[in-house]
Amino acid sequence: MKKHILIVLFLAMALLIFSQNEAKTSVKHSKENSKCFACHGAHTYSFQNDMIERIVTKRMNPYFIIDSVLYYEQNHKSFECIDCHSYDYTEFPHNNDLRMEQMPSCLDCHEGDDATERFNFEEIYEEFHESVHSTKHSEEFTCWMCHNPHSYKINARTNENVLETIVYDNNICLSCHADVDKYQLISDKEKPNVIDSHDWLPNQITHFARVRCIECHAQITDDVLVAHQIQPKSEAVKKCAECHSKNAELLASLYQFRAKENRSKYGFFNAAMLSDGYVIGANRNVYLNILSGVIFGLVVLVIFIHAILRGVSK
Ligand code: HEC
Ligand code: HEC
Ligand code: HEC
Ligand code: HEC
Ligand code: HEC
Ligand code: HEC
Ligand code: HEC
Repeated sequence: MKKHILIVLFLAMALLIFSQNEAKTSVKHSKENSKCFACHGAHTYSFQNDMIERIVTKRMNPYFIIDSVLYYEQNHKSFECIDCHSYDYTEFPHNNDLRMEQMPSCLDCHEGDDATERFNFEEIYEEFHESVHSTKHSEEFTCWMCHNPHSYKINARTNENVLETIVYDNNICLSCHADVDKYQLISDKEKPNVIDSHDWLPNQITHFARVRCIECHAQITDDVLVAHQIQPKSEAVKKCAECHSKNAELLASLYQFRAKENRSKYGFFNAAMLSDGYVIGANRNVYLNILSGVIFGLVVLVIFIHAILRGVSK
């Protein structure tokens, strides 16, 4: 009897260790995707040219190259390319009509979706539609403009390193405001130089590395974690005191979330402490703890059933 319990416990331990490792590296790299990456993951691609009957190699359009490392780290890492793109892309040369394919929007999948309810997509959608980007450019300015479909990964909510989140978020804005080519996808006006527009701000480099663009440019609300209503430049925060004082606006957004998160159910616990905008936090993840708890419960159940069966069979 004792031996059996030991075996069951041993198996349960193994399962526990395995499942925790599994949680870290659980993305299976889809075979279908690797066919796409064979061409879209590199600077050159090769194909059999039947006209001249040999394999030829060409350069890939740099905007069509997708970083497979970033792809398998992002929110939609479990996706196959053809979950969003047409199945017809599995053929090469791609059919010309595919260019006209309509891409799904975030809300097509996330509206009323329980699993991602905490993000409040509906409210973000509203806010975005009141932003300067949407009101001035409606249709062509989509959520994908800021959320790269092949690399966007949540940060503000999960990354313990606030400075990394600031850089991540600011790069989203700068991917366009510091890149004429992308800017011109949206507007044929001349792109203002963001360095010049912020001349009035001393220590610009420090500020851009320590403050998110949205802290000064978006209307902050309580309903969503990341404000999406970018306002006209005339509304932007310019007063130093709004941040350089005790109960500053800045603290209301990014930094205070940590303190709020403490009290809320999901994510992290342990004190995520605040001092002068820096977050010190030895955070543990609740989900891993729940997982261990569930597995422990299952083990007890198995032992219990086992003992009963033994008792019955005697
Ligand atoms: C043999 C190489 C090759 C393979 C395999 C391949 N592609 Fe492409 N793909 C290209 C090339 C070259 C282009 C750009 C020119 C063109 O459309 O032919 C392209 C363009 C695209 C475009 C952009 C079309 C546009 O104009 O906006 C998408 C989207 C795309 N591929 C998706 C995929 C997906 C998804 C897969 C896998 C199911 C895949 N491709 C497999 C070579 C390939
Ligand atoms: C979550 C949905 C989604 C998945 C998964 C996805 N894509 Fe895309 N992809 C898009 C969207 C949306 C666009 C159009 C982006 C835009 O209009 O700014 C796009 C554009 C592209 C383009 C054209 C690039 C451009 O800037 O126009 C290529 C090439 C491409 N995808 C290939 C792939 C490949 C290869 C995979 C798999 C490794 C893949 N996609 C997976 C949504 C997705
Ligand atoms: C084709 C359907 C589809 C589209 C389009 C789509 N998503 Fe998702 N998204 C999902 C699914 C399914 C998941 C759950 C992924 C998983 O568990 O592997 C998810 C997960 C997420 C997550 C949660 C990641 C996490 O770690 O909890 C975020 C954030 C997210 N999506 C944002 C977006 C945004 C922003 C857009 C538009 C720019 C978008 N999604 C477009 C289907 C989609
Ligand atoms: C002007 C740029 C921009 C546009 C447009 C945009 N977003 Fe975002 N979004 C961001 C930034 C920046 C973040 C913060 C990313 C991070 O650190 O996790 C974010 C975060 C998010 C998050 C995660 C918030 C959280 O609670 O963790 C969701 C969900 C989201 N956006 C959905 C959308 C949807 C839906 C749209 C279109 C209706 C959209 N976004 C359009 C810039 C944008
Ligand atoms: C400390 C607050 C603050 C921060 C941080 C900040 N901005 Fe600004 N920004 C402003 C103010 C105020 C203006 C209006 C300046 C004026 O009209 O003189 C402005 C103007 C702008 C304009 C309009 C430029 C023009 O000349 O038309 C853009 C675009 C812009 N900011 C983008 C950004 C981006 C992108 C970031 C992040 C990298 C950022 N801002 C960070 C306060 C800020
Ligand atoms: C895909 C490109 C793109 C991205 C990404 C983008 N913007 Fe913009 N933004 C524009 C364009 C284009 C305009 C000009 C709108 C107009 O006046 O026609 C603009 C205008 C602005 C303005 C000035 C509005 C005014 O009153 O003149 C601000 C402020 C701004 N963006 C902030 C941001 C912030 C903050 C982010 C990141 C959260 C961001 N943008 C991301 C393209 C972009
Ligand atoms: C949106 C909030 C915000 C606004 C508005 C703002 N600052 Fe800052 N400022 C910060 C943050 C955050 C830091 C970085 C603090 C740190 O690293 O300890 C900073 C740092 C500084 C520093 C120290 C720079 C260094 O290198 O150590 C100076 C000086 C400064 N700000 C002056 C100003 C002045 C003057 C204004 C008004 C014209 C202003 N700030 C507006 C948030 C802001």
